[in-house]
Amino acid sequence: MRIVLLGAPGAGKGTQCKRIVARYDLLHLSSGDILRQQRTEGTDLGKKAQSYMDSGALVPDEIVVAMMTDAIRKAPDAGFVLDGFPRTVNQAAELDKSLASYHQGIDVVLNLNVDDQVVAERITGRRSCPQCGAVYHIRNMKPKVDEICDNDGTKLIQRPDDSPEVVANRLETYRRQTEAVVDYYKSNRTVYDIDANKNADEVSTLMFEKLEALAKA
Ligand code: AP5
Repeated sequence: MRIVLLGAPGAGKGTQCKRIVARYDLLHLSSGDILRQQRTEGTDLGKKAQSYMDSGALVPDEIVVAMMTDAIRKAPDAGFVLDGFPRTVNQAAELDKSLASYHQGIDVVLNLNVDDQVVAERITGRRSCPQCGAVYHIRNMKPKVDEICDNDGTKLIQRPDDSPEVVANRLETYRRQTEAVVDYYKSNRTVYDIDANKNADEVSTLMFEKLEALAKA
């Protein structure tokens, strides 16, 4: 299965992708996680991406498309879930072109719909593990010990781009550049709109119902 998960910042894409890959044994490819990893390693790509990410703008298409199509080419036959990519209509078209060159395509798109005030509450309460990438929330998905990762005992951090000013820019960028990707896919793929204002288990149930129905069709 080749799945794209769309949604505003903080909609829960990363949280739900982890559940999808655990259930279907797919590869999780998050453009944000890969870019953050490049930054941590101090690569040229990471240095180029830094100022865009810190301000809440999109990293230029040519950088992200090359990075993601390369990662997708190495995905196992079972498939993958894309998280945070594509984020512009141009990225979506380039992705289609790249997959078509080896006779593949996106099977289904899940679009997580969430209200702006829910986004603000989720992002300001998010805490992440800098070691393993696990994501928590100070109220909704608490670690067993406050501020400490359940998996490896590392102290949790707040992402630098989760400040209120940068979140406002990320939301604005989403409205201006990424919402059109939903229409792009609605014109040529199966797209399921999911109410992502619900709690994480309810959102997973809604998604899995759609994916199971598709697998049986
Ligand atoms: P990226 O890392 O992709 O950030 P994002 O899209 O803004 O998404 P987030 O990671 O903030 O949120 P999420 O939807 O994954 O939510 P999460 O599951 O963590 O991108 C960062 C930057 O990289 C971009 O700004 C850009 O500069 C660059 N970039 C990345 N991809 C790019 C591309 N394709 N092109 C160009 N530039 C690119 O959940 C959020 C919180 O809510 C967590 O605390 C979680 O525990 C909690 N939560 C989740 N679901 C629920 C629920 N249902 N109920 C209650 N709490 C919940």
